[in-house]
Amino acid sequence: MNKVSLKISPNIYYAQLSSSRSINLYQETLLRCIESVKLSIATIGLRNPKIGKKDHSWEYCDPFDWVMSFRTGQLWLAASLTGEQTFIINASARNKDFRKILENPLEFDHDLGFQFSLSCVANWKITGNKEARSLALRAAEALSHRFNQAGNYIQAWNPKVNDPERSRFVTGRIIADTMQNIALLYWAHFESGISAFKEIADAHAQTSMKYLIREDGTSYHTFMFDPATGVPVRGETHQGYADESCWARGHAWMIHGFAQSYLYTKNQEYLKTAILLANTAEKLMGDDLVPVWDYKLSKDEIPYKDSSAGAIMAAGLYILASVSTDDAPRFTAFADRLLNGLIETCDLTKDPKALGLLAHGASHVGAGYADNMLPYGDYYFMEALMRSLGHNHFFW
Ligand code: GLY
Repeated sequence: MNKVSLKISPNIYYAQLSSSRSINLYQETLLRCIESVKLSIATIGLRNPKIGKKDHSWEYCDPFDWVMSFRTGQLWLAASLTGEQTFIINASARNKDFRKILENPLEFDHDLGFQFSLSCVANWKITGNKEARSLALRAAEALSHRFNQAGNYIQAWNPKVNDPERSRFVTGRIIADTMQNIALLYWAHFESGISAFKEIADAHAQTSMKYLIREDGTSYHTFMFDPATGVPVRGETHQGYADESCWARGHAWMIHGFAQSYLYTKNQEYLKTAILLANTAEKLMGDDLVPVWDYKLSKDEIPYKDSSAGAIMAAGLYILASVSTDDAPRFTAFADRLLNGLIETCDLTKDPKALGLLAHGASHVGAGYADNMLPYGDYYFMEALMRSLGHNHFFW
């Protein structure tokens, strides 16, 4: 294989930002993450991790799984930091998986954003691969076609043949997670100049702001609309504890999602919304270091931790710290607390047998997945560590 050149300069070493923060700890942990991602290439090969097993090996994705890009994203982060061909080759070799999604339109859902931002957008940004850029633009177009004009939102999921119950469940439903997926649309607008991509992303963000966030700053995981008229119906949960609770990962998706939407648009409403969500999470967490999977659990429930929510939220808080001058020290301190919690209680990078980076992720407690390694937790752990050190070039 030919050596692929980098569009960007690799830069793993960063100046110390502040002597009072744990910069050395974050730098060392990031280096261990990179080593772990490299070491596991021999075992994982070109498979895409889905969820961790008890022995810290992985179950792997079938084609089209929403989590299929998070390993690819880690490889691209490692490539951007080190410039090493091992990472570039292993990440680029996965483009075929993403090309295959585009050949199967019935598999398209809102997760095109996660799938293509961390694979083809990353490949384009790092190596200038033009095919990857074109695949990512096609994915953005497919994502934009999910827009419901009656309700001003992107529908998350799809009905299935001969499954009326699923059809009733998915049709007209928005979910908090989509706020992270719309980055693909903002990127496509930036890249192509086609304004409809941004208009759709903005419309979805406005609808999410209005219906997914309660007055007290807590959030619904999902919200239902009448798909024919766009009339709002009610907030509900899918992966949280209850309809009126506050699912930690959904809340974290929105902190990161609104902060990142602000980076693209400079819309102050998005910044204010991300700050409101972050302030609420800080209150709800109390002294905790790693978020509990839902902030409004009843006393009878097991308070499983969700390391993925902690990692996503930490990455989002560092974005907020980088743009909100008044609140920057507070958001940095909160993000540092989350990172320290992850490093103290969930970090697997010192265990050479672990194929992932973080333990104790709660994928879907109601479905029995309460304490596992999760590839998205791992991706955002690396992103948060990088942001803590001042890196600001990502694939969103
Ligand atoms: N986007 C699905 C999840 O966060 O589990």
